[in-house]
Amino acid sequence: KKIGICASGGLVSLFITQRLKEEGVGYEQFIVDIGQPGEEAHAYCSDNIDLMQGTRVIDLKEDIAQVFLQAVRAQAQYDGGYWNTTGIARAVTVKGLVAALRSQQCNVLAHGAVHGGNDEFRFTYYLKMFAPEIIPFSPWEDPTTSDRFRTRAAMGDFVADADQALMRSKAHHSVDANLGGVSHESREVELLSNSTNSIAPIMGVRVADAPDQPERCTIVFKNGLPVEINGQAVSAYQAIAMANQIAGRNGVVLKNVLENRMNGTKGRGLYESPGLDLLGTAARHLFQATVDKDGWELMRFLSPFIARQTYAGRLYDPATQIALASAEELTENASGVVEMLAFKGTYLVDRVRDYSKSRFTAQQFRFAHGGQKWITEAVA
Ligand code: ARG
Ligand code: SIN
Repeated sequence: KKIGICASGGLVSLFITQRLKEEGVGYEQFIVDIGQPGEEAHAYCSDNIDLMQGTRVIDLKEDIAQVFLQAVRAQAQYDGGYWNTTGIARAVTVKGLVAALRSQQCNVLAHGAVHGGNDEFRFTYYLKMFAPEIIPFSPWEDPTTSDRFRTRAAMGDFVADADQALMRSKAHHSVDANLGGVSHESREVELLSNSTNSIAPIMGVRVADAPDQPERCTIVFKNGLPVEINGQAVSAYQAIAMANQIAGRNGVVLKNVLENRMNGTKGRGLYESPGLDLLGTAARHLFQATVDKDGWELMRFLSPFIARQTYAGRLYDPATQIALASAEELTENASGVVEMLAFKGTYLVDRVRDYSKSRFTAQQFRFAHGGQKWITEAVA
Protein backbone atom coordinates (compact mmCIF):
# COMPACT_ATOMS: atom_id res chain seq x y z
CA LYS A 1 0.00 0.00 0.00
CA LYS A 2 1.13 3.53 -0.73
CA ILE A 3 -0.56 6.37 1.06
CA GLY A 4 -1.39 9.74 -0.45
CA ILE A 5 -1.85 12.44 2.14
CA CYS A 6 -4.20 15.30 1.42
CA ALA A 7 -2.21 17.91 3.33
CA SER A 8 -3.58 21.26 4.41
CA GLY A 9 -1.00 22.56 6.83
CA GLY A 10 -3.56 21.84 9.53
CA LEU A 11 -2.99 19.84 12.68
CA VAL A 12 -4.54 16.52 11.79
CA SER A 13 -2.91 16.12 8.40
CA LEU A 14 0.47 16.98 9.95
CA PHE A 15 -0.24 14.35 12.57
CA ILE A 16 -0.77 11.77 9.83
CA THR A 17 2.50 12.69 8.17
CA GLN A 18 4.41 12.55 11.45
CA ARG A 19 3.02 9.14 12.30
CA LEU A 20 3.70 7.63 8.91
CA LYS A 21 7.22 9.03 9.02
CA GLU A 22 7.88 7.52 12.44
CA GLU A 23 6.44 4.20 11.43
CA GLY A 24 8.40 4.16 8.19
CA VAL A 25 5.33 3.85 5.97
CA GLY A 26 5.72 5.17 2.42
CA TYR A 27 3.67 8.20 1.47
CA GLU A 28 3.28 11.01 -1.03
CA GLN A 29 1.99 14.33 0.14
CA PHE A 30 -0.27 16.65 -1.84
CA ILE A 31 -1.75 20.04 -1.09
CA VAL A 32 -4.45 21.54 -3.25
CA ASP A 33 -4.34 25.20 -4.15
CA ILE A 34 -7.99 26.23 -4.01
CA GLY A 35 -7.24 29.88 -3.44
CA GLN A 36 -6.70 29.74 0.32
CA PRO A 37 -6.21 33.31 1.63
CA GLY A 38 -2.58 34.38 1.85
CA GLU A 39 -1.46 31.87 -0.79
CA GLU A 40 -1.51 29.41 2.05
CA ALA A 41 -1.03 26.28 -0.04
CA HIS A 42 2.33 27.63 -1.17
CA ALA A 43 3.17 29.29 2.12
CA TYR A 44 2.98 26.04 4.04
CA CYS A 45 5.31 24.34 1.59
CA SER A 46 7.90 27.11 1.76
CA ASP A 47 7.67 27.73 5.49
CA ASN A 48 10.36 25.16 6.24
CA ILE A 49 7.94 23.00 8.10
CA ASP A 50 9.79 19.70 8.06
CA LEU A 51 6.67 17.67 7.63
CA MET A 52 5.63 19.62 4.53
CA GLN A 53 8.86 19.02 2.63
CA GLY A 54 8.36 17.44 -0.78
CA THR A 55 4.64 18.22 -0.89
CA ARG A 56 3.23 18.50 -4.39
CA VAL A 57 0.95 21.49 -5.00
CA ILE A 58 -2.04 20.71 -7.20
CA ASP A 59 -3.50 23.86 -8.73
CA LEU A 60 -7.30 23.70 -8.64
CA LYS A 61 -7.99 27.43 -8.50
CA GLU A 62 -9.91 27.71 -11.77
CA ASP A 63 -11.67 24.38 -11.11
CA ILE A 64 -13.07 25.54 -7.82
CA ALA A 65 -13.88 29.01 -9.17
CA GLN A 66 -15.99 27.47 -11.89
CA VAL A 67 -18.00 25.43 -9.41
CA PHE A 68 -18.53 28.52 -7.25
CA LEU A 69 -19.84 30.40 -10.26
CA GLN A 70 -22.18 27.49 -10.98
CA ALA A 71 -23.51 27.89 -7.44
CA VAL A 72 -23.90 31.65 -7.91
CA ARG A 73 -25.70 31.06 -11.17
CA ALA A 74 -28.01 28.52 -9.54
CA GLN A 75 -28.42 30.80 -6.48
CA ALA A 76 -27.62 27.72 -4.41
CA GLN A 77 -27.29 28.88 -0.82
CA TYR A 78 -27.79 26.48 2.07
CA ASP A 79 -29.36 27.31 5.43
CA GLY A 80 -28.52 30.78 6.60
CA GLY A 81 -27.10 31.83 3.24
CA TYR A 82 -24.05 29.52 3.40
CA TRP A 83 -22.59 29.12 -0.08
CA ASN A 84 -21.30 25.62 0.73
CA THR A 85 -17.76 26.84 0.31
CA THR A 86 -16.40 23.94 2.37
CA GLY A 87 -18.64 21.34 0.77
CA ILE A 88 -17.64 22.49 -2.71
CA ALA A 89 -13.97 22.47 -1.71
CA ARG A 90 -14.19 18.81 -0.70
CA ALA A 91 -15.78 17.86 -4.00
CA VAL A 92 -13.23 19.74 -6.08
CA THR A 93 -10.32 18.54 -3.93
CA VAL A 94 -11.09 14.84 -4.18
CA LYS A 95 -11.97 14.99 -7.87
CA GLY A 96 -8.84 17.01 -8.59
CA LEU A 97 -6.52 14.76 -6.57
CA VAL A 98 -7.46 11.51 -8.24
CA ALA A 99 -5.14 11.85 -11.25
CA ALA A 100 -2.18 12.78 -9.03
CA LEU A 101 -2.88 9.89 -6.63
CA ARG A 102 -3.05 7.44 -9.49
CA SER A 103 0.10 8.73 -11.16
CA GLN A 104 1.96 8.17 -7.87
CA GLN A 105 0.42 4.72 -7.41
CA CYS A 106 -1.29 5.72 -4.19
CA ASN A 107 -4.10 3.40 -3.17
CA VAL A 108 -5.02 5.13 0.09
CA LEU A 109 -6.05 8.77 0.56
CA ALA A 110 -5.43 10.00 4.10
CA HIS A 111 -7.00 13.30 5.15
CA GLY A 112 -7.35 15.38 8.27
CA ALA A 113 -10.97 16.44 8.04
CA VAL A 114 -12.48 17.24 11.42
CA HIS A 115 -14.61 14.58 13.03
CA GLY A 116 -17.96 16.29 12.54
CA GLY A 117 -19.15 13.78 9.98
CA ASN A 118 -19.82 16.06 7.01
CA ASP A 119 -16.33 16.30 5.62
CA GLU A 120 -15.51 12.67 6.36
CA PHE A 121 -18.57 11.61 4.44
CA ARG A 122 -17.73 13.93 1.55
CA PHE A 123 -14.18 12.58 1.25
CA THR A 124 -15.40 9.00 1.33
CA TYR A 125 -18.30 9.49 -1.03
CA TYR A 126 -16.41 11.47 -3.68
CA LEU A 127 -13.53 9.04 -3.54
CA LYS A 128 -15.89 6.12 -4.08
CA MET A 129 -17.34 8.01 -7.01
CA PHE A 130 -14.15 9.05 -8.78
CA ALA A 131 -11.63 6.40 -7.68
CA PRO A 132 -13.33 3.40 -6.07
CA GLU A 133 -10.00 1.58 -5.89
CA ILE A 134 -8.53 4.19 -3.52
CA ILE A 135 -9.34 3.74 0.18
CA PRO A 136 -10.14 6.79 2.34
CA PHE A 137 -8.38 7.05 5.67
CA SER A 138 -9.09 9.38 8.58
CA PRO A 139 -7.19 9.03 11.86
CA TRP A 140 -10.40 9.81 13.73
CA GLU A 141 -11.93 6.62 12.44
CA ASP A 142 -8.86 4.46 12.86
CA PRO A 143 -9.38 1.81 15.55
CA THR A 144 -5.61 1.27 15.77
CA THR A 145 -5.01 4.87 16.80
CA SER A 146 -4.22 4.49 20.47
CA ASP A 147 -6.09 6.37 23.14
CA ARG A 148 -3.35 8.94 23.44
CA PHE A 149 -4.28 10.33 20.03
CA ARG A 150 -7.98 10.70 20.65
CA THR A 151 -7.94 14.49 20.88
CA ARG A 152 -6.51 17.37 18.90
CA ALA A 153 -4.43 18.32 21.91
CA ALA A 154 -2.82 14.86 22.00
CA MET A 155 -2.08 15.06 18.30
CA GLY A 156 -0.62 18.53 18.81
CA ASP A 157 1.82 17.27 21.42
CA PHE A 158 2.91 14.48 19.11
CA VAL A 159 3.60 16.87 16.21
CA ALA A 160 5.93 18.94 18.32
CA ASP A 161 8.33 20.17 15.65
CA ALA A 162 5.75 21.88 13.46
CA ASP A 163 5.27 24.86 15.72
CA GLN A 164 4.72 27.32 12.95
CA ALA A 165 1.86 25.46 11.42
CA LEU A 166 0.43 24.53 14.77
CA MET A 167 0.31 28.14 15.81
CA ARG A 168 -2.29 28.52 13.12
CA SER A 169 -4.34 25.50 13.94
CA LYS A 170 -3.83 24.22 17.48
CA ALA A 171 -5.12 26.75 19.91
CA HIS A 172 -8.16 28.07 18.14
CA HIS A 173 -11.41 27.01 16.62
CA SER A 174 -11.29 25.24 13.26
CA VAL A 175 -10.92 27.46 10.20
CA ASP A 176 -11.49 26.12 6.72
CA ALA A 177 -10.64 28.62 4.00
CA ASN A 178 -10.53 28.85 0.23
CA LEU A 179 -11.17 31.28 -2.62
CA GLY A 180 -14.91 31.31 -2.00
CA GLY A 181 -15.08 31.64 1.71
CA VAL A 182 -14.01 30.90 5.25
CA SER A 183 -15.85 28.55 7.63
CA HIS A 184 -15.27 29.04 11.34
CA GLU A 185 -16.35 26.20 13.58
CA SER A 186 -15.92 24.30 16.82
CA ARG A 187 -14.61 25.31 20.21
CA GLU A 188 -15.69 28.84 21.14
CA VAL A 189 -17.71 29.19 17.92
CA GLU A 190 -19.85 26.22 18.88
CA LEU A 191 -21.33 27.95 21.89
CA LEU A 192 -24.37 29.97 20.89
CA SER A 193 -23.88 32.10 23.95
CA ASN A 194 -20.58 33.39 22.53
CA SER A 195 -20.79 36.57 20.51
CA THR A 196 -20.45 36.37 16.74
CA ASN A 197 -18.36 39.47 17.07
CA SER A 198 -15.61 37.65 18.97
CA ILE A 199 -14.35 36.24 15.67
CA ALA A 200 -12.54 38.63 13.34
CA PRO A 201 -13.15 38.10 9.63
CA ILE A 202 -10.22 36.91 7.51
CA MET A 203 -11.46 38.06 4.12
CA GLY A 204 -11.78 41.74 4.90
CA VAL A 205 -12.60 44.27 7.58
CA ARG A 206 -15.25 44.12 10.24
CA VAL A 207 -18.46 45.89 9.29
CA ALA A 208 -17.87 48.46 12.03
CA ASP A 209 -14.49 49.34 10.47
CA ALA A 210 -15.76 49.67 6.90
CA PRO A 211 -15.65 53.03 5.08
CA ASP A 212 -18.55 55.45 5.55
CA GLN A 213 -19.05 55.89 1.82
CA PRO A 214 -20.45 53.16 -0.41
CA GLU A 215 -18.15 51.82 -3.12
CA ARG A 216 -19.65 51.49 -6.56
CA CYS A 217 -18.72 48.56 -8.72
CA THR A 218 -19.90 47.48 -12.15
CA ILE A 219 -20.28 43.83 -13.05
CA VAL A 220 -20.94 42.73 -16.61
CA PHE A 221 -22.65 39.37 -17.03
CA LYS A 222 -22.67 37.43 -20.26
CA ASN A 223 -24.84 34.36 -20.64
CA GLY A 224 -25.27 33.94 -16.92
CA LEU A 225 -21.65 34.47 -15.88
CA PRO A 226 -19.66 37.50 -14.71
CA VAL A 227 -17.12 38.38 -17.41
CA GLU A 228 -16.02 41.89 -16.50
CA ILE A 229 -15.64 43.81 -13.25
CA ASN A 230 -14.95 47.54 -13.19
CA GLY A 231 -13.90 47.45 -16.82
CA GLN A 232 -11.51 44.53 -16.46
CA ALA A 233 -12.13 41.22 -18.22
CA VAL A 234 -12.08 38.40 -15.65
CA SER A 235 -11.70 34.62 -15.57
CA ALA A 236 -13.83 32.68 -13.10
CA TYR A 237 -11.01 32.83 -10.55
CA GLN A 238 -10.40 36.55 -11.10
CA ALA A 239 -14.11 37.34 -10.85
CA ILE A 240 -14.31 35.85 -7.37
CA ALA A 241 -10.92 37.19 -6.26
CA MET A 242 -11.83 40.72 -7.36
CA ALA A 243 -15.29 40.52 -5.84
CA ASN A 244 -13.68 39.39 -2.57
CA GLN A 245 -11.40 42.44 -2.58
CA ILE A 246 -14.20 44.90 -3.28
CA ALA A 247 -16.69 43.37 -0.88
CA GLY A 248 -14.05 42.54 1.74
CA ARG A 249 -12.82 46.09 2.16
CA ASN A 250 -16.41 47.27 2.61
CA GLY A 251 -17.18 45.03 5.53
CA VAL A 252 -17.55 41.28 5.91
CA VAL A 253 -20.65 39.90 7.55
CA LEU A 254 -20.05 36.66 9.43
CA LYS A 255 -23.19 34.69 8.73
CA ASN A 256 -24.26 33.08 11.93
CA VAL A 257 -25.64 29.69 10.99
CA LEU A 258 -27.05 27.00 13.22
CA GLU A 259 -26.81 24.10 10.85
CA ASN A 260 -28.05 20.55 10.84
CA ARG A 261 -25.21 18.22 9.99
CA MET A 262 -25.61 15.06 7.97
CA ASN A 263 -25.30 12.85 11.03
CA GLY A 264 -28.15 14.59 12.81
CA THR A 265 -26.11 16.77 15.14
CA LYS A 266 -26.43 20.52 15.18
CA GLY A 267 -23.50 22.83 14.83
CA ARG A 268 -22.98 26.54 14.86
CA GLY A 269 -20.81 27.94 12.13
CA LEU A 270 -19.74 31.44 11.15
CA TYR A 271 -19.27 31.91 7.45
CA GLU A 272 -17.53 34.57 5.38
CA SER A 273 -18.00 34.80 1.62
CA PRO A 274 -18.00 38.47 0.67
CA GLY A 275 -17.27 38.00 -3.03
CA LEU A 276 -19.89 35.31 -3.57
CA ASP A 277 -22.42 37.46 -1.73
CA LEU A 278 -21.66 40.40 -3.99
CA LEU A 279 -21.77 38.33 -7.19
CA GLY A 280 -24.78 36.34 -6.02
CA THR A 281 -26.81 39.46 -5.30
CA ALA A 282 -25.86 41.02 -8.64
CA ALA A 283 -26.73 37.81 -10.50
CA ARG A 284 -30.07 37.48 -8.75
CA HIS A 285 -31.19 40.93 -9.82
CA LEU A 286 -30.09 40.37 -13.38
CA PHE A 287 -31.88 37.02 -13.49
CA GLN A 288 -35.06 38.51 -12.13
CA ALA A 289 -35.02 40.90 -15.06
CA THR A 290 -34.04 38.41 -17.72
CA VAL A 291 -35.57 35.04 -16.81
CA ASP A 292 -39.29 34.62 -17.50
CA LYS A 293 -41.73 34.18 -14.64
CA ASP A 294 -42.08 30.40 -14.79
CA GLY A 295 -38.37 29.93 -15.35
CA TRP A 296 -37.63 31.98 -12.27
CA GLU A 297 -40.13 29.98 -10.28
CA LEU A 298 -38.42 26.75 -11.33
CA MET A 299 -35.10 28.29 -10.38
CA ARG A 300 -36.34 29.06 -6.89
CA PHE A 301 -37.23 25.40 -6.58
CA LEU A 302 -33.89 24.19 -7.92
CA SER A 303 -31.69 26.47 -5.79
CA PRO A 304 -32.35 24.90 -2.36
CA PHE A 305 -32.24 21.42 -3.87
CA ILE A 306 -28.79 22.05 -5.35
CA ALA A 307 -27.62 23.61 -2.09
CA ARG A 308 -28.81 20.65 0.00
CA GLN A 309 -27.24 18.16 -2.38
CA THR A 310 -23.95 20.06 -2.33
CA TYR A 311 -23.96 20.15 1.46
CA ALA A 312 -24.71 16.44 1.54
CA GLY A 313 -21.67 15.58 -0.57
CA ARG A 314 -23.74 14.86 -3.65
CA LEU A 315 -22.58 17.59 -5.98
CA TYR A 316 -21.71 15.11 -8.71
CA ASP A 317 -24.81 12.94 -8.36
CA PRO A 318 -26.86 12.81 -11.57
CA ALA A 319 -29.82 14.66 -10.05
CA THR A 320 -27.61 17.52 -8.90
CA GLN A 321 -25.83 17.80 -12.22
CA ILE A 322 -29.15 17.84 -14.07
CA ALA A 323 -30.49 20.53 -11.73
CA LEU A 324 -27.32 22.58 -12.32
CA ALA A 325 -27.65 22.13 -16.07
CA SER A 326 -31.25 23.36 -15.84
CA ALA A 327 -30.19 26.45 -13.91
CA GLU A 328 -27.59 27.04 -16.57
CA GLU A 329 -30.10 26.74 -19.36
CA LEU A 330 -32.58 29.02 -17.61
CA THR A 331 -29.94 31.74 -17.33
CA GLU A 332 -28.29 31.06 -20.67
CA ASN A 333 -29.52 34.38 -22.07
CA ALA A 334 -28.94 36.44 -18.96
CA SER A 335 -26.60 39.20 -20.05
CA GLY A 336 -26.39 42.73 -18.76
CA VAL A 337 -24.63 45.25 -16.61
CA VAL A 338 -25.27 45.41 -12.88
CA GLU A 339 -24.08 48.39 -10.87
CA MET A 340 -23.62 47.49 -7.24
CA LEU A 341 -22.94 49.48 -4.11
CA ALA A 342 -20.85 47.76 -1.46
CA PHE A 343 -21.53 49.42 1.86
CA LYS A 344 -20.80 48.17 5.36
CA GLY A 345 -21.35 44.50 4.76
CA THR A 346 -24.31 44.89 2.43
CA TYR A 347 -24.21 44.64 -1.32
CA LEU A 348 -26.96 46.70 -2.86
CA VAL A 349 -28.06 46.84 -6.43
CA ASP A 350 -28.05 50.39 -7.69
CA ARG A 351 -29.21 49.65 -11.21
CA VAL A 352 -29.31 47.04 -13.93
CA ARG A 353 -28.84 48.18 -17.50
CA ASP A 354 -28.34 46.92 -21.04
CA TYR A 355 -29.88 43.61 -20.16
CA SER A 356 -31.17 40.92 -22.47
CA LYS A 357 -34.75 39.80 -22.70
CA SER A 358 -35.60 36.27 -21.70
CA ARG A 359 -35.30 33.76 -24.47
CA PHE A 360 -38.63 32.24 -23.45
CA THR A 361 -40.41 35.57 -23.31
CA ALA A 362 -39.18 36.46 -26.75
CA GLN A 363 -40.08 33.19 -28.37
CA GLN A 364 -43.31 32.28 -26.66
CA PHE A 365 -45.04 35.53 -25.92
CA ARG A 366 -44.27 37.42 -29.05
CA PHE A 367 -46.40 34.96 -30.95
CA ALA A 368 -49.28 34.95 -28.49
CA HIS A 369 -49.31 38.50 -27.17
CA GLY A 370 -47.05 40.51 -29.35
CA GLY A 371 -44.29 40.37 -26.73
CA GLN A 372 -44.09 40.56 -22.96
CA LYS A 373 -43.28 44.14 -22.19
CA TRP A 374 -42.16 46.12 -19.25
CA ILE A 375 -44.92 48.50 -18.22
CA THR A 376 -42.88 51.50 -19.31
CA GLU A 377 -42.56 50.09 -22.82
CA ALA A 378 -46.20 49.05 -22.96
CA VAL A 379 -47.52 52.51 -22.22
CA ALA A 380 -44.93 54.37 -24.31
N1 ARG B 1 -20.12 22.94 8.56
C1 ARG B 1 -19.69 23.32 7.27
C2 ARG B 1 -19.91 22.20 6.32
O1 ARG B 1 -20.10 21.12 6.74
C3 ARG B 1 -18.26 23.79 7.26
C4 ARG B 1 -17.26 22.80 7.70
C5 ARG B 1 -15.98 23.48 7.95
N2 ARG B 1 -14.94 22.60 8.33
C6 ARG B 1 -14.02 22.94 9.21
N3 ARG B 1 -13.09 22.10 9.45
N4 ARG B 1 -14.04 24.08 9.81
O2 ARG B 1 -19.90 22.41 5.14
C1 SIN C 1 -17.93 18.34 9.47
O1 SIN C 1 -18.96 17.93 9.98
O2 SIN C 1 -17.12 17.61 8.92
C2 SIN C 1 -17.68 19.80 9.45
C3 SIN C 1 -17.37 20.32 10.75
C4 SIN C 1 -18.56 20.72 11.51
O3 SIN C 1 -19.65 20.83 10.93
O4 SIN C 1 -18.38 20.98 12.70
